[in-house]
Amino acid sequence: MTNPSLLILAGDGIGPEVMAEVRKVIDWFGAKRDLKFNVSEDLVGGAAYDAHGTPLHDETMARAQNVDAVLLGAVGGPKYDDLDFSVKPERGLLRLRKEMDLFANLRPAQCFDALADFSSLKKEIVSDLDIMIVRELTSGIYFGEPRGIMDDNEGGRVGVNTQRYTTNEIRRVARSAFELARRRGNKVCSMEKANVMESGILWREEVTWVHQNEYPDVELSHMYADAGAMQLCRWPKQFDVIVTDNLFGDLLSDMAAMLTGSLGMLPSASLGAPMENGRPKALYEPVHGSAPDIAGQGKANPCACILSFAMALRYSFDQGPEADRLEAAVEKVLADGVRTADLLQSGTGEPATTSQMGDAVVAALEASL
Ligand code: IPM
Ligand code: MG
Repeated sequence: MTNPSLLILAGDGIGPEVMAEVRKVIDWFGAKRDLKFNVSEDLVGGAAYDAHGTPLHDETMARAQNVDAVLLGAVGGPKYDDLDFSVKPERGLLRLRKEMDLFANLRPAQCFDALADFSSLKKEIVSDLDIMIVRELTSGIYFGEPRGIMDDNEGGRVGVNTQRYTTNEIRRVARSAFELARRRGNKVCSMEKANVMESGILWREEVTWVHQNEYPDVELSHMYADAGAMQLCRWPKQFDVIVTDNLFGDLLSDMAAMLTGSLGMLPSASLGAPMENGRPKALYEPVHGSAPDIAGQGKANPCACILSFAMALRYSFDQGPEADRLEAAVEKVLADGVRTADLLQSGTGEPATTSQMGDAVVAALEASL
């Protein structure tokens, strides 16, 4: 059997720094758990633009289609702010998601015990929090046509984006959410704006259809997305799995992430339909962005990217126990008080560097044997 293949696209800003720590973790699994990957690297985002004049080279796109999983760092930065929209770094990421058809974006918001004091919410509201946001990722207003900036024929301009969802697009992401719920707390809350948007009415009807016809054993509720945002701050533990569209999921997942104390801790998985080998098309990436303000200074927290690799072990490579091992190692490092700057209250000790944090995770893995 050949080793499973992994394409690493470190990208921009802190992407390459946090990815260097993931490489240490990948090497450890190869050496100590006999879990070897065929790893290749390529460029995405601003880095790809600098080299090729495009945020994702066609050859890179083709490679991404042919590996078992893609691991991505982050894209974007102020250097690229004035670029034409079509070649902005973010377009590289959106193209990967769209062409790999990664329709289900899993964003867990889990509060590590050691970080409960760190949330902007009270400890009792976030301790032991464990929710999963399933965001639709390949349709909706980020992709709908017509789109653009046009003349409004009255001497001004008009900016247009279109929210559009089909039955199939809603049903397939709903199924992902129900499947996950069955393996967790068995509850799904679907969020839209059915009070003001037709696409929201269809969303609610189709999610209900999937529920009634395929997953009647799972508890389903519906919420308007604005009320959902409010409930996420008020009492997030009422949720298990939340399923929502691309735009609302983008917003709600950033908010849920912050409940847990730091964006630097949150991983994500973007999954598509199964490939010939039975594995889903998959891309794993931290929820945080490229953080250009701290890039290159050894300050970034590599945990979100390391935990994204844990999700890859779980969802692409059927290595649940090894994913548990890696997550426990991260938890142990935090409990031991090793913290990057984002996880320190001001004036409470020396922050660990990105690479010290990665080394500590590897040491905790070693100690787990
Ligand atoms: C995210 C990001 C992306 C998005 C950007 C970088 C295109 O905000 O993954 O949430 O809007 O989806
Ligand atoms: Mg976002």
